[in-house]
Amino acid sequence: MSTKTGEGFSSSFGAIMAAAGSAVGLGNIWRFPYICGKYGGGAFLLVYICFVFLIGMILMMSEFVIGRRTGEDPMKAYPLLRPHRPQWKYVGFLGLVTCFLILAIYLVISGWTLNYFWESLTGTLASIPDNGFKEHFESFASSTFRPVIFVIAFLVFTTLVIIGGVEKGIERVSKLLMPFLVVLLLVMCVRSLTLDGASTGLAYLFQPDFSKLTGEGVLAALGQALFSLSVGMGVMIVYGSYLPVDDNILKTSVWITICDFAIAILSGIAIFPAVFACGQNPSEGPGLVYQVLPVVFNSFGNIGRIFSIVFFLLLSLAALTSAISLLEALTQWLSGEKIKRTPSAIIMSLMVIALAIAASFSYGDGILSGMKIGGMQLFALLDKLTGTLLPPICALLTIIFFGWFMKKEDIMDELSNHGTLGIGYFKVFYYFLSRFVAPAALLIVLLAGILG
Ligand code: TRP
Repeated sequence: MSTKTGEGFSSSFGAIMAAAGSAVGLGNIWRFPYICGKYGGGAFLLVYICFVFLIGMILMMSEFVIGRRTGEDPMKAYPLLRPHRPQWKYVGFLGLVTCFLILAIYLVISGWTLNYFWESLTGTLASIPDNGFKEHFESFASSTFRPVIFVIAFLVFTTLVIIGGVEKGIERVSKLLMPFLVVLLLVMCVRSLTLDGASTGLAYLFQPDFSKLTGEGVLAALGQALFSLSVGMGVMIVYGSYLPVDDNILKTSVWITICDFAIAILSGIAIFPAVFACGQNPSEGPGLVYQVLPVVFNSFGNIGRIFSIVFFLLLSLAALTSAISLLEALTQWLSGEKIKRTPSAIIMSLMVIALAIAASFSYGDGILSGMKIGGMQLFALLDKLTGTLLPPICALLTIIFFGWFMKKEDIMDELSNHGTLGIGYFKVFYYFLSRFVAPAALLIVLLAGILG
C-alpha cells in the first residue's frame, strides 16, 4: 500500500537513523542514569535489559509492521487492519494524546537543556560555586520568562525540521546528528573513565544490589524501556509507514534497539564515574544532570567548560531528534487532503506550546505552582502520566491488537517482505513473544505497579 502523504525515508540506513533519533533522547541521557541510580544501579539494569529486548523491541517491530502494512497514521491504521472493529481507532487516539502530553513535558526539559548549553557557552555555569547549583537550577526552572524563551526556541527548530519533510527534514537531520552524538558521547566516556575512582561509578552501574529493587522499580524499568524506545504510542507506526518497502523490519528494529540501549549504557558510563569521582550523590533524581554534573564539570577547570558545552549540546541534539518524531506523529495525523503539512505542523506546535508553557509555570515555585490537578502540580502530573502510566497501557493495547486481532498472514507477509526474505525460526519466536510473553508481562507489571 502507498503511504498517506506519499512521503517516506529514502533508505534503510536513513530509516534506522531517524528511528534511532526518535529513540535516543532525554530518556537515555537525562532519565536513564537517574532512574537507574534511584532503583539500585545494576539490579535495575538487569530488569531493564529484559524489558528492552523482550517487550520494547517486540513492540517496535509490531508498530513497524502495522505502519508499513497500512501506510497510515495510527488512528486510521488500526481500523484498516480490522475493518469490523472500528473502535480500535481509539487505541491510536490514546497513543496520539500520549504523544501530545509527552511532547509538552519534553519541550520543558529540552528548554532547560538548551539554557544550560547557553550558560555553558557564556561562562555563567563556570562562575557558580559548587554548592550553588541546586539553587541556580530551582530558581531558573521556577522563573517565568527565561525557561519559556528556550522552550519556544527549541520548538521553532523542531517545527522547521518537520516542515522540511520526512526525507529532506527528518531523515537528513537525523543522519547528520546521530553519528555526531555518538562521537560526543564517546569523548565524554573516555574522560569519565580516566578519572581517579572511576571504578566505583562503574561498580554502581553494573553491580546488582537487589535489595534496592522494589515493585515500583520494576514498573519504572518497564516505563523507561517503553519511553526510551519510543514505542507503544504509535510514533513507530508513523515511522513504519515511511519505511522503504524492501526494508527488513526485524533487522531494522534490532539495530535501533541496540543503538538505543548502547547509548543509555554509555550515558551511564559517562556520568556515574564522574559523579563518584567528585563525591556527588548519584541518586539525586531528575536534577542529576542539571545540579550534579555542572559541579563535576567545574572541578575539571577550563577543560571542564568545554565538556560542559559538549554535554549540553549533545543532550539538546538528542532531544531535538526525539521531539521531531513526536511532532511528526501529531502532524501526520492532522494533515491530509484539507490541511497540508506546514499548517498542520504549525497548528500542532501552537497547541502543544500552550500546555508546555503552563507546565513550565507550574514547576517548583512558578506562578502556576498553586494550581493542583488531582493533588499534583501540572508538571508532576504530566511526568507521572507520561513516564510510568500511559506508555504501558498504550503498549498493552497495541500488542494485544497485534498478537490477537491482526491477521497472521498479514504479519508474516510484512515480516518476510512479501516472501522475498526467509527469516525462519526467529519469525515464529517473535510471534510467540508478541502473542503471549509481551502482553502477559505488560499486564502483570502494570497491575502490580498500580495495585502495589
Ligand atoms: N524515546 C525518546 C527518549 O528517550 C522520547 C520519545 C520520543 C518518545 N518519541 C516518543 C517516547 C514517543 C514515547 C513515545 O527521550
